[in-house]
Amino acid sequence: MCGIVGYIGQKEAFPILIKGLQRLEYRGYDSAGVALLNGDLNIYKCKGKVNDLLAHTDGKKLCGNIGIGHTRWATHGEPNDINAHPHTSSDGKLAIIHNGIIENYAVLKEELIKRGHTFESDTDTEVLVHLIEEVRKKGGMPLEEAVRTALQQVVGAYAIVVMSNDEQRKLVAARKSSPLVIGIGKEENEFFIASDATPIVEHTREVVYLNDHEIALMDKESGLSIRTIENKEKTPFVQALEMNLEMLEKGGFDHFMLKEINEQARSISDSMRGRLDAALGTVRLGGLSEHQQKFFQAKRIIIVACGTSWHAGMVGEYLFEDFARIPVEVEYASEFRYRNPIINEDDVVIAISQSGETADTLAAIRLAKEKGATILGICNVVGSSISRETDAGAYTHAGPEIGVASTKAFTAQLTILSLMALMLAKHKGTMSRSRYMKLVQELDRIPEKITAALKCEEQVEYISGEYKDASNFLYLGRGYNFPVALEGALKLKEISYIHAEGYPAAEMKHGPIALIDEEMPVVVLATKSSTYEKVLSGIQEVKARKGKIIAIANEKDPELERLSDHVIYIPETEEPFAPMLSVVPLQLLAYHIAVMRECNVDQPRNLAKSVTVE
Ligand code: G6P
Repeated sequence: MCGIVGYIGQKEAFPILIKGLQRLEYRGYDSAGVALLNGDLNIYKCKGKVNDLLAHTDGKKLCGNIGIGHTRWATHGEPNDINAHPHTSSDGKLAIIHNGIIENYAVLKEELIKRGHTFESDTDTEVLVHLIEEVRKKGGMPLEEAVRTALQQVVGAYAIVVMSNDEQRKLVAARKSSPLVIGIGKEENEFFIASDATPIVEHTREVVYLNDHEIALMDKESGLSIRTIENKEKTPFVQALEMNLEMLEKGGFDHFMLKEINEQARSISDSMRGRLDAALGTVRLGGLSEHQQKFFQAKRIIIVACGTSWHAGMVGEYLFEDFARIPVEVEYASEFRYRNPIINEDDVVIAISQSGETADTLAAIRLAKEKGATILGICNVVGSSISRETDAGAYTHAGPEIGVASTKAFTAQLTILSLMALMLAKHKGTMSRSRYMKLVQELDRIPEKITAALKCEEQVEYISGEYKDASNFLYLGRGYNFPVALEGALKLKEISYIHAEGYPAAEMKHGPIALIDEEMPVVVLATKSSTYEKVLSGIQEVKARKGKIIAIANEKDPELERLSDHVIYIPETEEPFAPMLSVVPLQLLAYHIAVMRECNVDQPRNLAKSVTVE
């Protein structure tokens, strides 16, 4: 959700900002802009993508070694040139970029209008920069102090970077509920700042994650200093980045999404490495160690997440209940926090989030924490807000996921949930040794089975060509495969804009069956399971109404072949791990249909990779 980048040092800022914005574009891509300081304050911004901004800046004065850049995902005000960031104060001396929402912007705006301010845009951000200007006018204060004082009046979420024409050696940044990372450059007093580490990694590995309520001053003369909004000095905690540049490139694939689908064998192995010993039957999650006992003693597990991570959470529910016989509730984070949920001290809340920044998930864990529950996180982005606010957790080592539609993060989340459920089952003695060993050994084989499952791509591409013009799709699955049906439908909706619904196979007869006719492709997850025969009956019902069946199956079954228009075969596995394999053809189906429909696969319309607003 909105990408922020800033640079201060000796180098030319513009190319650094543009490269940074291109890396951050997955966070939002409605409009883009930069501001550069070089004696003057020059601002270039326009509706559209970073490439549109590049075209827009053609022939303009682009020098300056202090600059800020922004790529927007609109919240207040439609995406247009005026609403694009950076925004400026009325005297044109201050420029700001912002990610988040200023909740009390209307009140502040009214007050500022009374004081003679006029506004060009519909954004809450413009109000903030005018507020800083107003504060500065009164006290004649240095920029960092004016930002701090202004923020004391602000309600809402923000990550901001501000610069001023009359303090040409400074960048000031602040955060509350929206992420910001500062990269410590190789040259003296050189700093990079961004919403996440992706624009920073090619310049430096040393970073400082800004915490909520902190304000950072990056000064060409005095370096980096951090103070809280209450003006308490903080010592910057410098950490090393684990990411490398290769992880941020497409590596020969046409799209990040395809690259990420193909990376799943690796990302699952990385998520298990050092944690699962299949020969000995041991599972160890180092990140849980301090809170492991709480996890083992939990009376109930509550999983909170959004989007694809919520689908992973649903599989988690099945895993924990099946393996460890513990009650589990899976909640949309956004619903959970607003419905006065019952949370007890012996509950363990697991937050699942690829980005670790989803505002609703973050708010849900804060609520659960207040009520005394133990909070565990399953995050992909190291150092993210959720990973820092949870009591303990396990990272999915999927590597950066750039495609907006989540793929490898989902299967990595399932890997961690499987490991956690196995650990708990072993501790609680809820599973026979033989079943436990069978599952552990099968989990260890999942990466090689993913590689085999990926071989279906050519067939999936062919099937995609047959159905790319359909207006609706139905996805059916039962048991462990029901969340996969939801996830398959979500993938298709997100990137191809075809309406799709996921349904529990047996529920179809209670409604969606009315939709079925010869125009309706129905994707049925018919892998080997305890409900296989029943799924087959469901297929009969669809066929009787002339629906087109695309079945995902494990072994040749003449009956299935007879009923289906297409059968995609993937390797067989233990039923609890089926989602990790059966989702692969569905990811590929969504991908190829979207490509054939000429959709922007990696940056689908209206979506953002990381939703840092409620
Ligand atoms: C956005 C993304 C989805 C993602 C969801 C939750 O909607 O477009 O792909 O599943 O947020 O994100 P999280 O980072 O918390 O997993």
